[in-house]
Amino acid sequence: MSGPTIVLITGANTGIGYQTALQLPLFHNDTYKIFTKSELEPLVVDLEDDESIKRAHEEVDRKVEKLDVLVNNAGVLLDSQAKTQNLSTRQLFLQTFNTNVFGVQVLTETFIPLLLKSTSPRLLFLGTSMSSLTVSENPNPYFNHPPPAGWPKENSDFWAHKSSKLALMMIMRDWSKNLKNDNVKVWGINPGLVATNLGGSKEFLKSIGAGDPAVSGRLIRDVIEGERDGYVGKLIATEDDYFGSVVPW
Ligand SMILES: NC(=O)c1ccc[n+]([C@@H]2O[C@H](COP(=O)([O-])OP(=O)(O)OC[C@H]3O[C@@H](n4cnc5c(N)ncnc54)[C@H](OP(=O)(O)O)[C@@H]3O)[C@@H](O)[C@H]2O)c1
Repeated sequence: MSGPTIVLITGANTGIGYQTALQLPLFHNDTYKIFTKSELEPLVVDLEDDESIKRAHEEVDRKVEKLDVLVNNAGVLLDSQAKTQNLSTRQLFLQTFNTNVFGVQVLTETFIPLLLKSTSPRLLFLGTSMSSLTVSENPNPYFNHPPPAGWPKENSDFWAHKSSKLALMMIMRDWSKNLKNDNVKVWGINPGLVATNLGGSKEFLKSIGAGDPAVSGRLIRDVIEGERDGYVGKLIATEDDYFGSVVPW
């Protein structure tokens, strides 16, 4: 890529988004101008609020002439906290889909005109191998272990999160098709299991083997730098990912 690359990363104040933001200036000095909640150009946006998305777009539109990369990173996993937060099943699903699917779609649609002004536009969506239908047939991962018989079940599943990310991957596929003739490269990113605030307990994530989110940040940086251009439209992961560097659907 030549010239400054303008990157918008949602949810970059922490976790994978933050680690991604760290990777870009680290390797490229001033090449990247990053819009994050807390880095070079902070940008406040609430995915549950259309007005907030509109304001964020207006702010970016005022400051830059184009957007080269949109990393749809922000997301929630509320299943594990649903009980303690007294969320009904309906509230759990509504809130999860509102952020992970509806909000991401509204934000993407809003920023597409800026993205189309880039000579090398890239559009990324954070997914997860947990949402692969093929992976759901694999009995080995802990999230596929059936709970003991009896009712009610302990809330050991991630129903809302998994189904929201599965929905998001279909949206990713459609953006890939929709923007093909505009030369926009689109991916789903499986960042691997990494220790962040997702789900509300870094310690729990570490206890089930979560790694360093910097690894996910490097994966996203590689995609931005063009190293995974042969896999557009796919849900991709690091080379040593348990489910493969291209996650089966
Ligand atoms: N960690 C993993 O193992 C893992 C695995 C697979 C996929 N992922 C995906 O990776 C992405 C990043 O997650 P993470 O692990 O870095 O989690 P995280 O540490 O909890 O970070 C999530 C980010 O999303 C932001 N966010 C949440 N709701 C938002 C909303 N309504 N509007 C705007 N921003 C919002 C958060 O902002 P606040 O801090 O202000 O709430 C935070 O910056 C997510 O899409 C997640 O599903 C993570």
